[in-house]
Amino acid sequence: MSQGFPSGDTPRPPASTPDHREHRGGEAAESVPALDAVTAATPQHETPAHRPYMPGPQSDDAVIRVEGLIKRFQGQTVLDGINLDVNRGETMVIMGGSGSGKSTLLRCMIGSLRPEEGTVRLLDRTVDPEDEPGLNELRKQFGILFQSGALFNSMTLRENVALPLQEHTSLPARTIDIMVKIKLELVGLREHADKYPSQISGGMKKRAGLARALALDPQVLFYDEPSAGLDPVTSAEIDQLIISLSQQLGVTSVVVTHEMHSAFTIADRIAMLDKGRMLKVGPRRYFQAIRDSEESLPHDEALIRQFLRGEAEGPITERKQSTGYAEDLLGTPLADLASRPSVLPTRSRGR
Ligand SMILES: Nc1ncnc2c1ncn2[C@@H]1O[C@H](COP(=O)(O)OP(=O)(O)OP(=O)(O)O)[C@@H](O)[C@H]1O
Ligand SMILES: [Mg+2]
Repeated sequence: MSQGFPSGDTPRPPASTPDHREHRGGEAAESVPALDAVTAATPQHETPAHRPYMPGPQSDDAVIRVEGLIKRFQGQTVLDGINLDVNRGETMVIMGGSGSGKSTLLRCMIGSLRPEEGTVRLLDRTVDPEDEPGLNELRKQFGILFQSGALFNSMTLRENVALPLQEHTSLPARTIDIMVKIKLELVGLREHADKYPSQISGGMKKRAGLARALALDPQVLFYDEPSAGLDPVTSAEIDQLIISLSQQLGVTSVVVTHEMHSAFTIADRIAMLDKGRMLKVGPRRYFQAIRDSEESLPHDEALIRQFLRGEAEGPITERKQSTGYAEDLLGTPLADLASRPSVLPTRSRGR
C-alpha cells in the first residue's frame, strides 16, 4: 500500500521520534490526514482479521507477532483469526467494547491462555502455554500490570517489588534493596516503601504494581486497564508514567483500555477489536481522523467512530437491536406473529 493509513499493520515512525512524543505538548499541532486518504487506504471489502498474514515492511522490528489467533470458550469464538505485530519501543493500545476479547488477547500473548489456533511470538520465542520452563524464562523479560495491581496484601510495597528479584535472580540482598528503591522512585513511591497495600490509595496501588512489573527490567510491559477506577488526574498520572517508561527505558508496551482520553494520549498505534475480530490497526492519527470525521463512512469505520465518540446511535446500537431480543422473549419469529390474527378465538365455534 503506497500511502499513509492502511488498515493492517503499518510502518511506524522512526524509533527515535515515536508518534506520541511529537504531540505531547498539544494535539492541535498535529496534522490530521484528510479522511478520503484514510478511507481510500481501507477499502470496504477488506476484512483484516481474515486476510492472509503479510508482514509489513518493518516487521523485522516486531517484538510481538500474533498470527491467525483463534480462541474459543465453550464453543463460543472469542478471538477470530487475530493478526497483530507490536514493534520494538512502541506503545500499542488495544481498544474495543466490553467482551470484545481484549483481555483474552492479552492473556494469549503472555501464555496464560492456550489458543485453539494460531501462534504468538514474543521476544523471538514462540509462546507455548504448555512449556512451563520456557514461559518462566520469558516471564523474566516481560512485566504485567493487572487491573487490581495484584499486590500481596501481607507484604509491604518494598517486599512486593523485591519478590520477583528474589524469585528470579541470585542477587545479594543489598543489591535487591537498591533496585527496589530505584523502581519505587520511578513510580514516585520511594517514601511509601514500608506501607502495606491497604494503607495506600487505588492509584498508588497501580503505581506499586507497575514498580513490581518493572522489577526485572522487562523489555515488554503489558497493562490491562491501567486507569480503570481511577479519578481523571490519577489516571493522567498513570498515562504520563507509561509514556515516561517508554521514553526512559525504551520498553515496548501493550495497553488494553477503553479509556478514550488515555488511549489517545499514550498510543503510537491503536488496534481496535470488535467481537473477536480485529477491525483496524493503525497509527493514532488514523483513529483521530475517523473520530473527527463528519462524512458518511463505510461500516467498520462508522462503527469505530461511534465507539470513539461514545455515541448512543450508530452501527453498534443497530446491531444490538437486531439480535432477536423480541423474538427471544416471545419464542417465535416476528414474521410469524405478523401473519397471525391479532385475536385468536378462545372457544370452539361449534359449542
Ligand atoms: N475463562 C473464560 N471462560 C469462558 N468465557 C470467557 C472466559 N474469559 C473470557 N470469556 C468470554 O470471552 C469474551 C471476551 O472476554 P474478555 O475478557 O476478553 O473481554 P474484554 O474485551 O477484555 O472485556 P472488558 O472490557 O469487559 O474487560 C466474553 O464474552 C467473555 O465472557
Ligand atoms: Mg478485559
